[in-house]
Amino acid sequence: MKHPSDDSLMMRTVRCQPTDGVPVWLMRQAGRYMAEYRAVRERVSFLELCKNPSLAAEVMLTAVERLGVDAAIIFSDILLILEPMGFPLEFLPEDGPRIERPLRDPSEVKNVTELPNADSLGFVMDVVRYTREGLSSRLPLIGFAGAPFTLAAYAVEGGSSRDFRNVKAFMYLYPDEWAELMKKLARSTARYLNAQIDAGVQIVQIFDSWAGCLSKADYVECVQPYTKIVCDLVGPETPIIHFAPGNPCLLPAVRDAGGHVIGVDWRLDIAKAWDIIGNDYAVQGNLDPAILLTNPEVIRKHVQRILRLVERRPGFVFNLGHGILPQTPVENAIALVQAVKEV
Ligand code: CP3
Repeated sequence: MKHPSDDSLMMRTVRCQPTDGVPVWLMRQAGRYMAEYRAVRERVSFLELCKNPSLAAEVMLTAVERLGVDAAIIFSDILLILEPMGFPLEFLPEDGPRIERPLRDPSEVKNVTELPNADSLGFVMDVVRYTREGLSSRLPLIGFAGAPFTLAAYAVEGGSSRDFRNVKAFMYLYPDEWAELMKKLARSTARYLNAQIDAGVQIVQIFDSWAGCLSKADYVECVQPYTKIVCDLVGPETPIIHFAPGNPCLLPAVRDAGGHVIGVDWRLDIAKAWDIIGNDYAVQGNLDPAILLTNPEVIRKHVQRILRLVERRPGFVFNLGHGILPQTPVENAIALVQAVKEV
């Protein structure tokens, strides 16, 4: 059954249908840059917040209302799926995510749990339901998950990394165990995304945040087949946004892995990136998040520049090229949304 948001600006745009405007939302639109979010975080840890569906929904709905964006994304994290797969994790205030026992021994891949369904992540489906209930029926809700490579990178590195040496060495040294791990991650992730769709999201976004550290050849051989499994298994009626920032050389291979909308960072100008991806696809991006550290006048200039490059091609979703920086003044994020509406 079609959701009332099916004819919204965002939904029409992701299907490359003509519109009379450009939709805008911001990756990490609910987060530490917002005083309301920081106030909630005084009371609960990040993980507690993710596992408290009414509070998680409230945090996102507050951000959506303040910003006036054209889509909401559930408040959650890509790493939550790793817990039921056998990787307990914590979020440290200074260092970010930390996995207690990272996967370094190839013989341990057989102990990684493939999720037969998303029951162990039921609280995320409750976040979907609560957010959907509180959200205007005119706005689509986006669900999300990490792509297999980015999840594997966290599982093997044990946290954020500068050079990804452990996960790369694992991938090069143990191709069979790598394939096994990536298949487990891909199939679990597809089930997780389909459960989010059943619970009420209209769009899903796949974050391959670290794929940009790879060469094109390694991406095509060791990563693309598994992201493709995810995209092929996700319900065919639901648009997929595929976001793999950091390395524009990968864009054609990222597109071929799957997705209806391809995310682009700021490293290539949007017209060039779109020419590479092709007109049959919608694109999402490409403002450098650092521009939000300036002022409304500078922000407006950059919005004009991007929209001039896009001209009136159908299928452009305005967003940042990566998550909003915690140092961003809220007024600047609001000014960005207004500038997109006006320009
Ligand atoms: O966009 C949104 O507002 C929705 C929520 C969302 C979060 N994480 C909340 C969050 C989304 C879509 C994510 C995705 C995510 N999580 C990614 C992919 C996007 C990207 O940035 O490339 C990655 C790599 C993660 C893993 C992760 N989670 C890291 C590296 C960190 C620590 C760094 C940081 O920014 O603090 C987190 C924590 C996190 N996820 C926070 C939020 C609001 C901050 C937690 C806090 O301190 O309150």
